[in-house]
Amino acid sequence: MRTTCNHPKDCYSEPFSVGEFEILVYVCNCNGLRQRDVAQAIEAGACRPREIFARHQCQPQCAKCVCEMRQMIQDSREAFAIAAE
Ligand code: FES
Repeated sequence: MRTTCNHPKDCYSEPFSVGEFEILVYVCNCNGLRQRDVAQAIEAGACRPREIFARHQCQPQCAKCVCEMRQMIQDSREAFAIAAE
């Protein structure tokens, strides 16, 4: 499933793989944070982008990744709510 945020540009994409090779998708190019890095921070309890940056001991630079991080947090909450039902 592909989701988007409210940002004017379509800035969220799902991870994908080719064959058995997972493509490493970067969420934050400034800090080199991949989707799995962000997902790990969310699973560990980060509920705001700044908590994701803090968990990886970095800070936002251009902040272009914040929309995607928020979307991943929201997706995680929705998945957790569905699982709790
Ligand atoms: S892409 Fe994340 S701070 Fe620039």
